[in-house]
Amino acid sequence: MSEKILITGATGTIGKAVVKHLKAKNASFLIASRNPEEAAEKFGSDINVVKFEFEDISTFENAVDGVSKVFLLGPPLRYDLADVLMPFLDFLKAKNILEVVYISALGAEKMGDTLTFHTIIEEKLKADGFDYTILKPSFFSQNFKNYEWENITQRGITYVTAGEGKVGFIDVDDIGLVASTVLTSTGHSKKIYELTGPELLSYQDAATLLSEVTGKQIVYPNPSIEEYTKALKAAGAPDFIAPYMTSVYSLISDHKVNFLTNNVETITGKKPSLLRDVLIADFK
Ligand SMILES: NC(=O)c1ccc[n+]([C@@H]2O[C@H](COP(=O)([O-])OP(=O)(O)OC[C@H]3O[C@@H](n4cnc5c(N)ncnc54)[C@H](OP(=O)(O)O)[C@@H]3O)[C@@H](O)[C@H]2O)c1
Repeated sequence: MSEKILITGATGTIGKAVVKHLKAKNASFLIASRNPEEAAEKFGSDINVVKFEFEDISTFENAVDGVSKVFLLGPPLRYDLADVLMPFLDFLKAKNILEVVYISALGAEKMGDTLTFHTIIEEKLKADGFDYTILKPSFFSQNFKNYEWENITQRGITYVTAGEGKVGFIDVDDIGLVASTVLTSTGHSKKIYELTGPELLSYQDAATLLSEVTGKQIVYPNPSIEEYTKALKAAGAPDFIAPYMTSVYSLISDHKVNFLTNNVETITGKKPSLLRDVLIADFK
């Protein structure tokens, strides 16, 4: 049986790390993108790229040709993510492609009624007889670069509604290493792995690290939800972003993700990276 793996979300933050580590392991895989030409340019000619879009079922058949496993990653900032991913999961089930490694999120099951999509997908993987592995990473260390670059470099702030809660920020390279290991080894069937970095830190701690690394004073104003919502509106963000992000950050402010796991090291043999080291790579 072929061991070819389809990597969805391959051009994104986690996906690029998964591709890097699968390549290092000499695994057989192909990557999915809505813009295959652009992706092929980015990754080079030694990586196979296929056109794929969750909302376009006509792209599914070609994408899974010869594939026996799927790395499944849903795009961020989509309240409708469960609806977006369902048709592809139904298609995989019908094709009897049951080995799926899914990226959920740490604390997804503690979100209450607001952001339920990861839990709905996890439940579907279980109920429909998939041979799943669910990875539940903590907040990414790279969020500071990817989502807060201007706040940090131009305004001297890191601006989220995380209160005084703590979280084990994780390096996406470690998520990629875990995913590539799970995809290329046995013993991970029907497992759920919560993935964190090595230390619990608050946003105040992160601001102190950012100040050290950038050599400028970076402040965490610890805004209220009202202040944050107002600031995003003034900056022209679409209306749905503030409630989405405040729900996500309530996991930290409500102390629902203030724990560490040793799954990165147990699965990969590598100690997870410190936030400080990621910030040095991203901001120095
Ligand atoms: N940020 C965090 O702290 C955090 C923590 C835990 C879990 N997560 C979860 O991680 C996921 C996001 O991962 P990420 O940050 O790596 O995402 P990302 O960098 O935004 O990349 C998203 C990827 O999805 C692909 N994509 C977007 N829309 C698509 C569509 N309609 N059909 C097919 N592919 C599509 C894009 O590829 P193309 O443009 O090439 O098609 C891109 O490669 C979310 O599910 C989020 O809940 C995030």
